Amino acid sequence: KMEAFVNGLMSKMTLDEKIGQLNLVTGGQSVTGSAVNKDIEAKIGKGNIGGIFGVWGTNYIKKAQEIAVNNSRLHIPLIFGLDVIHGHRTIFPIPLGMSATWDMALIQRSARIAATEATGEGINWVFSPMVDIARDPRWGRISEGSGEDPWLGSQIARAMIKGYQGNDMTKSDAVMACVKHFALYGGAEAGREYNTVDMSLIKMYQDYLPPYKAALDAGAGSFMSSFNTINGVPATANRWLLTDLLRKQWGFKGFVVSDYTAVNELSAHGLGDLQTVSALALKAGLDMDMVGEGFLTTLKKSLKEGKVTQAEIDQACRRVLEAKYKLGLFANPYKSISADVEAKAEMTDANRKAARETAEHSFVLLKNKGNILPLKKSGTIALVGPLADNHSEMLGTWVVAGDPRKSVSVIDGIKNVVGNDVNILYARGSNFTDDSLLNERSWFFGMRQIKDKRPAQEMIDEAVETAKKADVVVAVVGESANMSGESSSRSDITIPETQRELLKALAKTGKPVVIVLFNGRPLALTWEDKTFDAILDVWAPGTEAGNAIADVLFGNYNPAGKITATFPRSVGQIPIYYNHKNTGRPFDGKGPAKFKSDYLDISNDPLYPFGYGLSYTSFSYGDVKLSKTNLKGNEKLTATVSVTNAGKVAGEEVVQLYISDPVASISRSVKELKGFKKISLQPGEQKEVSFTITPDDLKFYNTQLKYDWEPGKFVVEIGTNSAETRSASVQWTK
Ligand code: IFM
Repeated sequence: KMEAFVNGLMSKMTLDEKIGQLNLVTGGQSVTGSAVNKDIEAKIGKGNIGGIFGVWGTNYIKKAQEIAVNNSRLHIPLIFGLDVIHGHRTIFPIPLGMSATWDMALIQRSARIAATEATGEGINWVFSPMVDIARDPRWGRISEGSGEDPWLGSQIARAMIKGYQGNDMTKSDAVMACVKHFALYGGAEAGREYNTVDMSLIKMYQDYLPPYKAALDAGAGSFMSSFNTINGVPATANRWLLTDLLRKQWGFKGFVVSDYTAVNELSAHGLGDLQTVSALALKAGLDMDMVGEGFLTTLKKSLKEGKVTQAEIDQACRRVLEAKYKLGLFANPYKSISADVEAKAEMTDANRKAARETAEHSFVLLKNKGNILPLKKSGTIALVGPLADNHSEMLGTWVVAGDPRKSVSVIDGIKNVVGNDVNILYARGSNFTDDSLLNERSWFFGMRQIKDKRPAQEMIDEAVETAKKADVVVAVVGESANMSGESSSRSDITIPETQRELLKALAKTGKPVVIVLFNGRPLALTWEDKTFDAILDVWAPGTEAGNAIADVLFGNYNPAGKITATFPRSVGQIPIYYNHKNTGRPFDGKGPAKFKSDYLDISNDPLYPFGYGLSYTSFSYGDVKLSKTNLKGNEKLTATVSVTNAGKVAGEEVVQLYISDPVASISRSVKELKGFKKISLQPGEQKEVSFTITPDDLKFYNTQLKYDWEPGKFVVEIGTNSAETRSASVQWTK
């Protein structure tokens, strides 16, 4: 049916109209490059635009759609895209935080809620999920992904696609997802934004590509090409990537859009002038050109000169039209445009409740010496730090439509949760940073930091005096929203100096100090870990930040989040990730280190390993019991551990399964995550947790890029994080 419809439509289209469908313009409310589009309304009328992004709200969208449907010759509706990254109006934790929940139902629900709110404002296409594996916390966009692990990243990618698209994209509350950034964007050299990526094919297939493939298999309707090079060829003009791999090997049937002006940027990459690079991108398999209008302005000429073919233009046009068809836009171009829905969909109590719950589940307790947390609901608390009484920074990076004024600050959240039972004394203590470069970059979608003009020492002194009057200090510090995200790489990943000065002064008071840490990336916290009693990592929690933080600080919810990207001891250890190779000279921390793979000045271990996170209770693990120790072919193995809540409060635990393959035809990672179960245990309760392991879990890409397993010994590890596990081994023959 779709094919016949699109064939019929295309038979009536002129060349210009076909090229028009390949043109995606920004409505100007989210601009992440030096170019913006002009004369949009006139172009829509002429059939020169296929879609608009970066605008929302039914007024604008209805008007634009009316021009397309009423004034353009063939009445082809526009598709409306937006960067709905972690919520639309109701903002959820940043994706790196959301991944720390290890809770697929919560993640899927967050995408579903985002879809209902966004469609309520006319959006039918979201530039999410970002599934780029990232192992370099200097890279600011690590905040927008699900961390370092391909297996977990794949589960999350699936959950997000299901949440956004549902089972039927023609429904008025479904959006089409756009999987980005294809591919390997997170592998940028030196963690520097937009930088070169260069990696082996085995690493690419084994560690970086799986989440994109998982999203595709879950039915993702579109992909966005990345800015970086792959094997020397920029992704946006990379035929191997966009056609051989994505379509021929993986069978993708949707459409591919470029990133912002990425076609034009092929010139800066050194591939030629705009006409040349536009032709290269189309021929590589790119269907839609974002913002740069290289397709719009050059493809006709290229066709005349024989540089592209009619079939190539038709193919791209067909894919864009098919996406509109799949969304039901031909049947009802206004399906998501209704003032009624707009009013109802926004930030309902239920949505806020879901955001609060998700935020609580995303927090990671990194340290809790002497069980200082949870705090008593009595006495006096000194609440200090630049994030303690703040609204905009609660939302984190990439919030286009989220309203900071509607977010709950930490101080308000605490008051909401404990009322007058606790005496709260507040002092700001410091600005985020005095670094002028970081301050200048505070442009992201108008979220300017409010700077306190007082001298730094005066603010610190005030905070110290406040601390002295309290039983406990809660220091709400870390990164502001714009310190991570796009174009926000950092070479120093510590808490900014201005805030560290405040922390040093607080440490000297001798009062117990709890750090509530905001961060869009793993930070190097070696000094903080040594110095302070408790660290609760809250990422950027979203709209319900303050309420969720207060719930956890005062024990209404027992934290269970686990980090999905390794926290290094220092920036010098980067890249650092749990599933590294053994090397020929591994150093296990014992015996002489000389001529072993290590550093002179720091250990190899991270500060906090992948999968790490504490609880207000403690869990004890029994030995790993295996159903068999010798297996053959497609037999299944069951691995079981008993987990006991050995503490005094109920809690949740993410029980993690890792497998290693000590002997193979290539050097394998020391271990790989292959499963997890999130369980709840009452105090004293014990549960048996079982995992079924099949040969699929043993497969890897060999030197021929064949995905298979090799017989031999395998070690099954189960534990509370990637570094603390119990293990047992099996022999598995073919
Ligand atoms: O979706 C984004 C992408 O992640 C980065 N560049 C701009 C795009 C559209 O806003």
